[in-house]
Amino acid sequence: MNSKTTPDITRRFFLKSSAAVLAGAFTGSFVLHKASALAFKEFHLRAGKSPINLVPEPNGTTNAWCFNGVVPGPEIRVRQGDRLRITVDNALDEDTTVHWHGMRVPNAMDGVPHLTQPPIAPGKTFTYEFDAVDAGTFWYHPHQRSFEQVGRGLYGPLIVEEPAPIRVDRDLTWVLDDWRLTKDGQISDDFGNLHDMSHNGRIGNTVTINGHVPETFMVQRGERIRLRLINAANARIFGIDFGAHRPVIVAIDGQPVAPHNPENDLLVLGPAMRIDVVIDMVGDVNQRYTLTDPFYRGLKYRLVDLVYTDTPMRDRIPDWDMQLSANPLTEPDLDEAERHEVTFNGGMMGGVVMQEMGGSMGHELMGAMGSMRGMMHSGKIWFINGVAAEGHIMDPMLTLRHGRSHVVSMANATAWHHPIHFHGHSFRVISRNGNPTAHKEWQDTVLMAPKERVEIAFVADNPGDWMFHCHILEHQAAGMMGVIRATQPGERT
Ligand code: C2O
Ligand code: CU
Repeated sequence: MNSKTTPDITRRFFLKSSAAVLAGAFTGSFVLHKASALAFKEFHLRAGKSPINLVPEPNGTTNAWCFNGVVPGPEIRVRQGDRLRITVDNALDEDTTVHWHGMRVPNAMDGVPHLTQPPIAPGKTFTYEFDAVDAGTFWYHPHQRSFEQVGRGLYGPLIVEEPAPIRVDRDLTWVLDDWRLTKDGQISDDFGNLHDMSHNGRIGNTVTINGHVPETFMVQRGERIRLRLINAANARIFGIDFGAHRPVIVAIDGQPVAPHNPENDLLVLGPAMRIDVVIDMVGDVNQRYTLTDPFYRGLKYRLVDLVYTDTPMRDRIPDWDMQLSANPLTEPDLDEAERHEVTFNGGMMGGVVMQEMGGSMGHELMGAMGSMRGMMHSGKIWFINGVAAEGHIMDPMLTLRHGRSHVVSMANATAWHHPIHFHGHSFRVISRNGNPTAHKEWQDTVLMAPKERVEIAFVADNPGDWMFHCHILEHQAAGMMGVIRATQPGERT
């Protein structure tokens, strides 16, 4: 089942042979249990248009595109090892798909239009079936014209609980989003405009938590909360300052990490990233504490206020263990790893459009040229190894041998941040600008700063053609996307 055949796998084919497909896809990879052993947990998602209560009264409702009439879409919550069957109905006026961001699913279930499935046409249905291999915080969203579909509200959380979760008083999910609203509280329809595409994406003017403009959040002194943060924004990078509170990061992109405080006390989430933090409520009863977001210089704003109730829950900080148990990921062997180079370039720099001008490997930097008009005409603004994607079908930029360890050395040659996402795998972030990372975090989306170099390492253990792209959805739409092929077991390259 390589890329030449996956686009032809129809829903009917899949339903008839889903057990075989799932079992086959996991052979030699991460096997949790036999395909027949468990019943499916069934879910139903309907992508459609509905009014939602995004902004507080007296403003009216906002017309959104969303799942099951709500933003975020319903939280899908299962246990690790569960089998999921999720039926998606398309009540939009255009094609869609659903991608299970960060979930290591078989390729045919990855929700990439044309590459892994035919898009779901208006009025049609597609059924996704896969196992929850990893515990953690994940999310789902369309992969068809995602800069507009996600931007209008199509997304939701997918939580996979550990068999033995860490002890907390409350386990909460905050899906963060950023909207560009007009004065009358409607979604501005300037999706995909050239300025957003060539700069830092569609940054909005209204930040929401779980689909509402947040005011206050009630907590209790002494309480311990596990907060699962999901950045569902098209483009906004969140950098949360918890003030007097000291969050402890326990998982990134669903994968456990050695518990640690965020660098510089700022919790930074690029688009599509998730961070699970444990927070002890150390404030005083009846007090109010402000969480701010100073990430963009000069654009600091108040995210939400924590408001303490008048009675404490307990008087000292609990000493409960915060370390989550590891997911079944294969450890890459850095000495034996095959090495690959990836360079990102393009976008605006110093007032001009950077365009790729060659270098067969794409490593030589391009000249600064190209008119806005030329760019608008081609829609090619961002490049990976010299290529700007158009659509989801393309020749693989890298072919990775099955079962081998791979190190991908990535260079951001642009003047902008890019959250780089790889489908079907989690990778260890092993170095930044040549310096080993402190925690070798497993991630599926790594935020690269302007001019930064990042190395990631992983084992290619999930065969198929997988998207590799910037998760600033305007950058993705303007070319910053490629395909990485993970070969089948035994396949020659
Ligand atoms: Cu969150 Cu290619 O996706
Ligand atoms: Cu980008």
